[in-house]
Amino acid sequence: MKIAVLGTGYVGLVSGACFSAWGHEVTGVDIDRARVDRLNAGDIPIFEPGLAECVLACREAGRLAFTTDLALALKDVDIVFIAVGTPAGQHDGEADLSYVFEAGRQIARTLRGPAVVVTKSTVPVGTAERLEAVMRDAAPSGEFVVASNPEFLREGSALEDFNRPDRVVIGCEDRWAGGLLEALYAPLAAEGIRIVTTGRRSAELIKYAANAFLATKIAFINEMADLCERVNANVEDIALGMGLDRRIGADFLKAGPGYGGSCFPKDTVALLRTAQDSGVTLRLVEQTIAANTARKHTLARRLASLLGGTLRGKHIAVLGLTFKAETDDMRDAPAQTLIRCALEAGATVSAYDPAGMDNARQVLPEAHFAADPIECATGADALVIMTDWASFRTLDLARVGEVMRRRAIMDLRGLYDVDLLVKQYRFTVDRVGAPLRSPERASRITLNAHARRQSGALPVHNGFRNLETSDTAPALPGGSIPREEFVNDQSQII
Ligand code: UDX
Repeated sequence: MKIAVLGTGYVGLVSGACFSAWGHEVTGVDIDRARVDRLNAGDIPIFEPGLAECVLACREAGRLAFTTDLALALKDVDIVFIAVGTPAGQHDGEADLSYVFEAGRQIARTLRGPAVVVTKSTVPVGTAERLEAVMRDAAPSGEFVVASNPEFLREGSALEDFNRPDRVVIGCEDRWAGGLLEALYAPLAAEGIRIVTTGRRSAELIKYAANAFLATKIAFINEMADLCERVNANVEDIALGMGLDRRIGADFLKAGPGYGGSCFPKDTVALLRTAQDSGVTLRLVEQTIAANTARKHTLARRLASLLGGTLRGKHIAVLGLTFKAETDDMRDAPAQTLIRCALEAGATVSAYDPAGMDNARQVLPEAHFAADPIECATGADALVIMTDWASFRTLDLARVGEVMRRRAIMDLRGLYDVDLLVKQYRFTVDRVGAPLRSPERASRITLNAHARRQSGALPVHNGFRNLETSDTAPALPGGSIPREEFVNDQSQII
């Protein structure tokens, strides 16, 4: 098939490259000439594993080109995908559809034969109908049908998600257009991937509902993490025990600093806006947004608690700046909130990210950017792990401990075994969803237990449960500290 993709941003570029890799002839169109020139020179402006190789291979095979010339791209085209931006607009997070409608107008005026025009950008319910009306207005006798085909890809695994999706959603009321889209996705259907064909409105809503549900799942496990920290349980065990229930599922139950990125924050707010406009209250979505926003804003207070109640004069090292690993995307990244709050509270911050440094410099000009994790940790009072890059799992912990001013780690992605950090490397560890631990307390426990064993007060093969720590401290496994001793929610961070 001959395919045009309008917009060479994340979704447009990945979709275009993947369709081309499936054997279709694809032209990517963008109004940004510099971007088009870069793409044609093989310079991929976004960070996505495997994308550059895919674009290069398809270009070499002569099946993928980029242009600013819409007429050229639409010549003999079968399917036109609209993948332009839909930023949050000025009013209450309503998606700004002006780029989508402008693209539609131009497509309608330029098309010279029958084609299906498909929205791939995430757009509110009813957009396909509105787009069709806009296009009819521009070209009353145009031979086009508008369909919806939302994209569910995740940054960092976008090619994998595109080529092995859980499902493909096609929103289309027209049989010819629906047939064409089903033919496009036939290779996936042949592999057993379900093609869900619905009305356009349902397809549009599926995307928002899926994102809002996933965001809610994350917000839920983050609340469980808060509870685990207080009651000395472990959120990973909770997630495992919950996730094995097939009705719940194991994915998106990883507690962390709160969700960020280009989709969840924007789409949940846009969904609320749609509901409000329709006179419907979405209490769960409202609470998810509120809980996630609050979580990001409490990170600095949590850090202050780890450091004795204040961040003033403290030096903080932050590893991981983007909203998650395997991306260079800083949009709504929890690290932004933490670093700004820490700076406002009088701390100095050094930061490191394997891919996001250039973007981070734009939004966090006051931070110091380090060349590697060790430089980042040097002189720090606390090291905060914000994202789960593979390279952060294999830090030289002995060296990290040596270069830091104070051995404290806030592991917000649960990358490290707390026992290892506490006992072998003597860090005080605040790990998300687990009791706070410190080496001082761990050794006190060991000494107390040893003394009591010597005196016969404690059986030699006692389990953790009976392992008393001191007269005042409750019995907790291996050096756990009742969080209240450290975490004081009233603590001031200024
Ligand atoms: C998301 C959706 O997954 C995707 O289907 C949609 O098309 C776009 O939005 P993306 O934003 O790329 O994709 O990232 P995702 O992997 O979903 O993570 C979103 C945020 O949630 C990140 O900040 C991530 O760190 C966080 N997250 C995710 C968790 O905190 N815990 C989890 O278990 C999963």
